[in-house]
Amino acid sequence: MSTIGQPKRTTPAQIQAMKGTRPIVSLTAYTTPVARLLDPHCDLLLVGDSLGMVLYGMETTVGVTLEMMIAHGQGVMRGAQKACVIVDLPFGSYQESKEQAFRNAARILKETGCNGVKLEGGEEMAETVAFLTNRGVPVFGHIGLMPQLINTTGGYRSLGRSDKEADKIRQDAKAIAEAGAFAIVVEGTVEPLAREITQSIAVPTIGIGASAACDGQILVSDDMLGLFNDFKPRFVKHFAELAPTISKAAEAYAEEVKARTFPGPEHTFQVKK
Ligand code: KIV
Repeated sequence: MSTIGQPKRTTPAQIQAMKGTRPIVSLTAYTTPVARLLDPHCDLLLVGDSLGMVLYGMETTVGVTLEMMIAHGQGVMRGAQKACVIVDLPFGSYQESKEQAFRNAARILKETGCNGVKLEGGEEMAETVAFLTNRGVPVFGHIGLMPQLINTTGGYRSLGRSDKEADKIRQDAKAIAEAGAFAIVVEGTVEPLAREITQSIAVPTIGIGASAACDGQILVSDDMLGLFNDFKPRFVKHFAELAPTISKAAEAYAEEVKARTFPGPEHTFQVKK
């Protein structure tokens, strides 16, 4: 198959090389049409396991399956042309052993064609990250607040205020960077610590709730598009307000259907005489 004329997709190595050049722009994407819209503006699109909560209404990300990630990864790859596309390894698909992690990461790469996988974890996952990267799987790390650990950590709150917590996150960043991750998500971490980590490791930090001191930023796209009206965490900014726009469109549609003004003649097929 010829690739001549096709835009080149950004590689994990190129994302890594962006450290110190300009901030790296990333968003989550879960579907083809949204990926198509976000792709021209993003360096990296993450098919995050947040899709369990965002698209499927789950309470946490723990119930997300490998099959869900592969299906949405395929959808995003159909819509994205130039951004580096990374797919999350869901809870239970990599923690058991480095071999399990490789088997499932390889499935994701083969079945979606994406550029790499993301996994949550610090020092305890460093051996797995090295095992994957040494065998051809680019790994995006994820430290700080780790939503897959909700059942043992007990909640979503920003981290790094106590010396003990800060030391753990520092060690996690160092271990994952040295194990070969091409970049690391730093989630829910206080600014001074996020800045210190960013300055001390060789790979880019991509912050979510971790301040502008990081090498790049990521947000859940549905959050920043204003699709949820009920709760807005401090680190989220609405760059659009789609929830009221969608509600108003549904209301207008319902009124027109009830009034029989939709469909109109211009939406109706007739038999030509
Ligand atoms: O699952 C996800 O969307 C994520 C980002 C929030 C970093 O891990």
